[in-house]
Amino acid sequence: MPMVHMKDMLSHAHANGYAVGAFDLVSLDFLEAILEAAERERAPVILSLAESHFTYFNFDTIMPAVEHAARQARVPVAVHLDHGASLRSAVRAINAGCNGVMVDASDKPFDENVARTRAVVEMAHGCGVPVEGELGYVPGVEGEDAKLHPGEVAYTTPEEAERYMEETGVDFLAVSIGTVHGRMKGTPKLDFERLDAINGRLGIPLVIHGGTGLSDEQFRGLISRGVAKINYYTALADRAGARIRENAGRDGAAGYTGLVAGVREAIADEVARCIGLWGSAGRAADVLAAATPWRPVEHLIIYNVDGLDDDGTKAMMARGREVLGAIPGVRAVFTGEAVKPEASYRYTWLVRFCHPAVIDSYREHPDHVAFADEHFRPVAGERISIDYREVGELGEIGDVCD
Ligand code: 13P
Repeated sequence: MPMVHMKDMLSHAHANGYAVGAFDLVSLDFLEAILEAAERERAPVILSLAESHFTYFNFDTIMPAVEHAARQARVPVAVHLDHGASLRSAVRAINAGCNGVMVDASDKPFDENVARTRAVVEMAHGCGVPVEGELGYVPGVEGEDAKLHPGEVAYTTPEEAERYMEETGVDFLAVSIGTVHGRMKGTPKLDFERLDAINGRLGIPLVIHGGTGLSDEQFRGLISRGVAKINYYTALADRAGARIRENAGRDGAAGYTGLVAGVREAIADEVARCIGLWGSAGRAADVLAAATPWRPVEHLIIYNVDGLDDDGTKAMMARGREVLGAIPGVRAVFTGEAVKPEASYRYTWLVRFCHPAVIDSYREHPDHVAFADEHFRPVAGERISIDYREVGELGEIGDVCD
């Protein structure tokens, strides 16, 4: 099954009164557990990777596994950068395979938050990727994530939220109405009146960070007021930690595999509980029917070179791989030489775009224009250039989604 466009996925949740879980993953155990639970519950799901967690794993190493697992999944999946700190983080995430990004400048003054978020929106929309912004501040209180979100709570105001949405063009908004990252201390008090006012003004899917520790009743209250995405992590980490402690208690000499035995199941059970509670169970087939599949485009150029020797051509290709590969929305740049020397076109570029929107944004990108005008077009008059969208099986949708 293809990944699906996250905006379509969350619009469906928003319109139908349920929320999709965005579960932060920090290892392959988390990845497999989240997808196993989503498939068991036939639910759309968001695989979320928080930039604040990048010290726990190598983002570039784990992303191919995340993307592969998402594409193999038998439920609709989106892959999201959580708490991206900068424009650069967002470009890196999109080029590595994320099809949703969050820009978190919520600790900055309003105008700076708007400026940073707008820059990410302009870039990401040029790649077909939707953006989550945050206004107000959700701090950490207790648990392993708390220190990653220092400071005091700042509540989102409905007036600023509306201005922020209009000035940035964000697709989803994370709001601060009393939740905290990590474990709660006591019972959190949520400001539902505030959420009602924000929802009434904005009409876009709202996001809640700090899902851990909220009551069933509170989740229902959030979802009935426009929350369509719930971020969840600490409870999963705590479940995993408890299972490891149990294993260690049972067998003090246990090695790695003995210690982590059953961790996947423990995480999956908690994910499945949330999915059931948030109303996304059984929605996979509907989301799949409503959502645009997330599919790449291959930008193919075949060409002959005039005016450069072999070394010069290879140097031009190396420069192109570096420059073009860094343009937003470019997943990979393949440079090649025909296997048979008699081929009508001796060389090729295969530039993989994450989404058809990149055809235009890439063509107009100043780095592409400069490279093409200065290094490529002057020596490659003889060329053919065609964009190909992916055609392939949708995968085994039936058995799990129906
Ligand atoms: P919790 O760790 O409190 O569930 O919050 C997760 C989160 O909001 C990630 O962005």
